[in-house]
Amino acid sequence: MSREVHTLAPDEFLDEVHSFEFWFHSIQGYLADAEYGHRPGTPESELPPDRRERLITVLCNYCIGETAALDGASGLIGFAPNRQAKIFLATQVVDEARHLEVLIHRLAELGVKDPEAEIQRRATRSLQAFRRRLLELVAGKDWEAGIFAQNVILEAMEFAAFQTHARNADPITRELLEGIIKDERRHMGFGENDLGRRLSATPHVRARLQQIKRELDPLVLETFEEMLAELDVPREERPELGRNYLETVERLGFTS
Ligand SMILES: [Fe+2]
Ligand SMILES: [Fe+2]
Repeated sequence: MSREVHTLAPDEFLDEVHSFEFWFHSIQGYLADAEYGHRPGTPESELPPDRRERLITVLCNYCIGETAALDGASGLIGFAPNRQAKIFLATQVVDEARHLEVLIHRLAELGVKDPEAEIQRRATRSLQAFRRRLLELVAGKDWEAGIFAQNVILEAMEFAAFQTHARNADPITRELLEGIIKDERRHMGFGENDLGRRLSATPHVRARLQQIKRELDPLVLETFEEMLAELDVPREERPELGRNYLETVERLGFTS
């Protein structure tokens, strides 16, 4: 069923896109025939040992990001300002858990015997610090700060990293990331929409969020540096990663 969301009145639009109905029809397009995030027939590539090792390190760090998103989104439900937001976040929790599941499954496909131990061992300091700060903001029940750190900053960071990585990945990892990117785009849309309305109603919130951005940006950019060292991204594409992230966040009017 196709959904003509643009023909709906603003309130109906919010009901629609924040619904499991909308979510279900969205994911059917790219997950209906997938198993663990990719088509069953996609061939596995023979990765050289060094490239496989580096891919495992990157995927372990994605697992840290996805677990942070899972914990962050589920925590935000408890103090979300309205029922539509709670329902949307419930769809996001399902998405983030799926992302984590397919990434852990990919680690197993790559021969990792104990994913939990590898994730702990390979996690970068900057991403761990980001995760801690995000969960502090959520634990403080600060809606604007939590949704900003989670659905704008973290989502924009993942979106930029996964896009750059997908272009240079083996076929299975690429398909898996492309499916995840589609979900992350929905999550960013929610953050932009919610904060966009809030910022126009209460402009003073912007200064507080700007402060959080100043605090988190260095951790995001450091994480990118660490991931780029492990990915086979051509030198000329490298600066694009940080730029994509900053541009995404700037669309909401947050500059450096
Ligand atoms: Fe995710
Ligand atoms: Fe997400």
